[in-house]
Amino acid sequence: MQIGIFDSGVGGLTVLKEMAQSFASEDFYYLGDTARLPYGTKSPETIRQYAEQIMDFLAARKVDAIVIACNTASSQVPETLWKNIPVFNVIEPGAEAAVKATRSKRLGVLATRATVRSNSYTDKIHSFDKDIQVFAKSAPLLVGLAEEGWVDDPITDAVVARYLEPLLKNDIDTLILGCTHYPLLVSAIRKACGDKIRLIDSGSAICGKLAEKMSLKASEPTYINEIHFHATDLTAHTRILAQQILKPLVITEFDIVHL
Ligand code: DGL
Repeated sequence: MQIGIFDSGVGGLTVLKEMAQSFASEDFYYLGDTARLPYGTKSPETIRQYAEQIMDFLAARKVDAIVIACNTASSQVPETLWKNIPVFNVIEPGAEAAVKATRSKRLGVLATRATVRSNSYTDKIHSFDKDIQVFAKSAPLLVGLAEEGWVDDPITDAVVARYLEPLLKNDIDTLILGCTHYPLLVSAIRKACGDKIRLIDSGSAICGKLAEKMSLKASEPTYINEIHFHATDLTAHTRILAQQILKPLVITEFDIVHL
């Protein structure tokens, strides 16, 4: 099976990595819209238009499923069919995993500005359990730090701590990493949160859903996935960072696309 997957940049590779390691017999077509990143500061109309162009590109590649590995795009595109291809977004699995994880019913969501404004996480969480209190915080600078590869840096630690402060003051017991770039900054997030708060990563959460809906089976890694990495702008920095994030998986092909 060929799975199409996209994000504004390299963040969605955190989702791809989880999926490729869980489903060793599937091939992946990734598209990072690096020329137009970030999405999180843009309007709903623009984000939806970009997402639809990318889904057209993936549909033309004849993928069997499309995974929106971007919370920001997920918050604007209803989970449905695109040209008869099933589309999966990361918000529902993330919200569901967080609802199961919280004990105190006090959930934090760290996400981009567009995702927070859309209210998608709060609405989805409340569709599972109306009694949960949701505290959301936008963290616009984190995408740039992750794309720059500043994953282990005192400046990143300080920025993360500042964004998390209001959520921690609200005494959350579970935190949704509501942007697929944030798992790259998990060590800074862990430092700021301590070890008592459960972290929910939508990448791991979506694997269960995909396995169920597409009948994907976890397989022994005897087959090496084909991983095609497409980007709307492809620099040496992007190539190195993409390969670094996916390690030990190996990117089969790099390609630049103009949408
Ligand atoms: N990785 C994306 C997300 O999950 C997009 C971040 C951005 O481009 O602002 O929201």
